[in-house]
Amino acid sequence: MPDQILNWGFLSTARINRALVPVLNASPRNRLLAVASRSDSSAELYALEWKIPRSYGSYERLLEDPEIDIVYNPLPNHLHAEWTVKALQAGKHVLCEKPFALSLAEVDAMSTAARESGKVLTEAFMYRHHPQTLKAQAIVNSGALGKLQFIRGAFTFTLNREGNFRLQKEMGGGSLWDVGCYPVNFARTLVGAEPLEVFGWQDTGPGGADMVFVGQMRFEGGIHAQFDSGFASPFRAFMEIVGSEAALNIPVPFKPGRNEIMHLRRGESLERVKIPGQNLYSGEVEDMADAVLLGQPPRISLEDSRGNVAAILALLESARAGRPVDIPPNII
Ligand SMILES: NC(=O)c1ccc[n+]([C@@H]2O[C@H](COP(=O)([O-])OP(=O)(O)OC[C@H]3O[C@@H](n4cnc5c(N)ncnc54)[C@H](OP(=O)(O)O)[C@@H]3O)[C@@H](O)[C@H]2O)c1
Repeated sequence: MPDQILNWGFLSTARINRALVPVLNASPRNRLLAVASRSDSSAELYALEWKIPRSYGSYERLLEDPEIDIVYNPLPNHLHAEWTVKALQAGKHVLCEKPFALSLAEVDAMSTAARESGKVLTEAFMYRHHPQTLKAQAIVNSGALGKLQFIRGAFTFTLNREGNFRLQKEMGGGSLWDVGCYPVNFARTLVGAEPLEVFGWQDTGPGGADMVFVGQMRFEGGIHAQFDSGFASPFRAFMEIVGSEAALNIPVPFKPGRNEIMHLRRGESLERVKIPGQNLYSGEVEDMADAVLLGQPPRISLEDSRGNVAAILALLESARAGRPVDIPPNII
């Protein structure tokens, strides 16, 4: 079916939708057909504002639309698993926002639903498809840094949206699930393996979710990673990848744009690695279309998503217990 146009439906009027609207509108293989919201009026208003042909006043009704091929799930984190499973069981392919799920049982239920329905399911970690991320992986894998030793990163911003789900623990809130998931994911991706042991500290807010998280991960072969995430500092994001011969600095690692530069430092010399980028969200949309239309495996496998959830759960357990936590080698 390579000539087919894939019809997308948004589950909710989430803020992040606006990043995908222009990408879907510009893609020859994809079309934004419908939006669902918890009320008719908000769905209708949203559809009018963003020129979306169909609107539904409940998520169920969108899933009942036989012309929807792909569901985009940008619900608050605690609803990712429930609505992804429902969408798969309704026969839809699903692109589910990060963090994929909040427990390994949820990941497994989502994977089972994908297997049983035969539909594509993958996580919307948009930065993973960007040329800068692929170039950083290629540099590490080429051995240009020497032996990989140390990875450092951060993702923080000031969260001042009162009542936002990110502040509520029971809704999957907390800076680690929200933005710390990026440096955790980048480090795992660059190492190409799961951490063996983690340690974390957290400061929690009134909703019980972490406002600040500081974490470390130990990988096989003497590779270590450290990161911080938070809602109480100004916007900061970086990744530093240190090998025995050289170090790669990525000043805009998680939301890269069209013209980014990474810095490769080897002794006294500094090389600027220019990245002819692309729209940050087009990669995940085209990856999904390749998976559905051409049968290609999505770039982010379900095992990969499971590994990220497992690492985050272990970090949270460590912060609660105040001790390092091992990750069993057979976690994936
Ligand atoms: N990849 C990225 O770049 C990126 C960036 C930002 C966010 N995200 C992810 O996208 C997801 C959404 O984030 P967001 O900031 O866009 O969310 P948001 O603006 O708060 O929207 C979430 C939507 O979920 C619906 N909803 C259903 N039940 C709800 C409940 N109990 N409480 C609140 N809302 C409820 C609401 O839509 P209706 O009222 O229309 O039903 C709401 O508008 C999160 O998982 C986040 O991690 C990803």
